Amino acid sequence: MEYFYLEERALLAEGNKRFCFQHPDDSGKCIKVKKRKDGWEENLIEWFYLKSLSFKKKEVPCLVKCYGWVSTNMGYGVVFDKVVDEDGSDSLVLKSFIKEEYEELSCETVLEMAEELKKYCLKYSVAVTEPNEKNIMVRKDASGCKLVLIDGVGGREGLSIKNILYILFPFYARRKTKKQFLRFEKKIKIWFN
Ligand SMILES: Nc1ncnc2c1ncn2[C@@H]1O[C@H](COP(=O)(O)OP(=O)(O)O)[C@@H](O)[C@H]1O
Ligand SMILES: [Mg+2]
Repeated sequence: MEYFYLEERALLAEGNKRFCFQHPDDSGKCIKVKKRKDGWEENLIEWFYLKSLSFKKKEVPCLVKCYGWVSTNMGYGVVFDKVVDEDGSDSLVLKSFIKEEYEELSCETVLEMAEELKKYCLKYSVAVTEPNEKNIMVRKDASGCKLVLIDGVGGREGLSIKNILYILFPFYARRKTKKQFLRFEKKIKIWFN
């Protein structure tokens, strides 16, 4: 397994459970390592789930690409593509994007973006378990803005039988995704109220 030394200044962002570092040798990638004790479970669930999709030969456009495990000074980590805009700059998480663009942005636009994301996830039977403003990033390109899921797929809150059910039963995954998007859409409407 490859080893990387992650410097403090290479920290891109953090969630509740994991730190996300710039990959030291590849400007297009990032490495996620645990922040909390159970952070490694998140990495395992996400990695396993994304691998199961690629095993089914599903290259899902709105999902960040996941590579594999590496060893670091912060413990084991998983390498992902870093989400960047077409011009190469780091993309924003949905929360920061809305904050920054609030004046020009309408609720309908964000709902449309969410609808497109949902459409893809249902088409590929991706189990979206935690769609929120920090687990979704906004990739800007010439044709507009697209939402990309970077977390909250394949299960939440630790390992359980559900992680396996989402993989084995596509309808079960889609059911979860539909439910979660209903909540997410309500949330979006509240932000713009
Ligand atoms: N592939 C990625 N590209 C760019 N930034 C990312 C990527 N994955 C995560 N991040 C950033 O790191 C933060 C934490 O990552 P996340 O996977 O949500 O960790 P947690 O499991 O702690 O919620 C995100 O909110 C985002 O700002
Ligand atoms: Mg998260």
